[in-house]
Amino acid sequence: ENGDKREVRVWCDGCYDMVHFGHANSLRQAKALGDKLVVGVHNDEEITKHKGPPVFTEEERYKMVAGIKWVDEVVKAVPYVTTLEILDKYDCDFCVHGDDITMTADGVDTYSIVKAAGRYKEVQRTAGVSTTDLVGRMLLLTRQHFRRGEFEYDVAKEHSSTMGQDSSAKSPWTGCSQFLPTTQKIIQFSDGKPPKPGDRIIYAAGSFDLFHVGHLDFLEKARAQGDYLIIGLHTDPVVNRYQGSNYPIMNLHERVLSVLACKYVSEVVIGAPYNVTNDLMDHFKVDLVVHGKTPILNDENDADPFAVPKQLGKFMILDSGNDMTTEKIVERIITNRLKF
Ligand code: CTP
Ligand code: C5P
Repeated sequence: ENGDKREVRVWCDGCYDMVHFGHANSLRQAKALGDKLVVGVHNDEEITKHKGPPVFTEEERYKMVAGIKWVDEVVKAVPYVTTLEILDKYDCDFCVHGDDITMTADGVDTYSIVKAAGRYKEVQRTAGVSTTDLVGRMLLLTRQHFRRGEFEYDVAKEHSSTMGQDSSAKSPWTGCSQFLPTTQKIIQFSDGKPPKPGDRIIYAAGSFDLFHVGHLDFLEKARAQGDYLIIGLHTDPVVNRYQGSNYPIMNLHERVLSVLACKYVSEVVIGAPYNVTNDLMDHFKVDLVVHGKTPILNDENDADPFAVPKQLGKFMILDSGNDMTTEKIVERIITNRLKF
């Protein structure tokens, strides 16, 4: 039409179980190869047939993929093997997948057809994160039956000088993370857009560990309260203080990328204070602070972290309508551990 080149439509497909920033990074790279990104997600039956039951239901997985900011369309219940018919049906030029081989239950490369037809492109897989790795971190967490107290915190503080300097970036809380974060990755994930004059600015803070559907529903509600949504992420020691055990499962850098990949989020504060201070309200020109219906723990001095915004009449509790928690995910995995 009107002389313009037809837009390039890119196809991706997968299980997208326990969606993580590795999935998001592959979708980001895929989107950059065209104009529109269409993502096909397998249903529970198809995944169970080829690699065993997923942790998240198909409805949860469809919603999580649709929440990623580079995704334009989600196609539900697509077949495990990508066919030319499916690319044509959704008017997609080619299929994109990470540089790892995916096999069917019969050992066939799921992309052999699109590869043979020259309608396949590869992007780089993100090293250091996978569903298997995250499940491993969770099982490790449940094997260490202790709550972190003062002693562990001191040990952690001692170790903090070497934190992030060795190749595995071991932290006392998220020691299993093998992911190497860079500023480049943060730039690629970030919108880099400041608020427009007159934008209503919403602020919410939390751990956002193992970014899940509960978080996504909360962020959708939070974004609907204004025009520009800023998310404050607490550091690993702060999260550990109020969530205990070996939480968080994802370290701060990983949590930053997970939250930045969400289409409702405009900006992230990396290592936000637990208490919402006057300084923070002024600095980011916050119009409203929101929190979900999950319990709010007082700070070390037993003070309400939202005392300031409450005094200013700028605080609101939002009902995400979703009762998912990081702990529930861990429970699901333990219940299903024989299946993995
Ligand atoms: N992917 C990636 N980097 C990762 C994990 C997945 O780029 N660390 C990509 C895969 O290459 C694929 C897409 O994400 O193109 C969707 O994959 P899915 O079928 O869900 O991926 P798995 O490879 O099974 O991912 P995981 O091992 O994390 O379950
Ligand atoms: O627990 P966490 O700090 O990650 O939560 C971040 C925010 O998401 C909090 O405001 C919490 O109340 C909200 N949330 C929600 N519904 C869920 C899970 C979290 O509203 N199911």
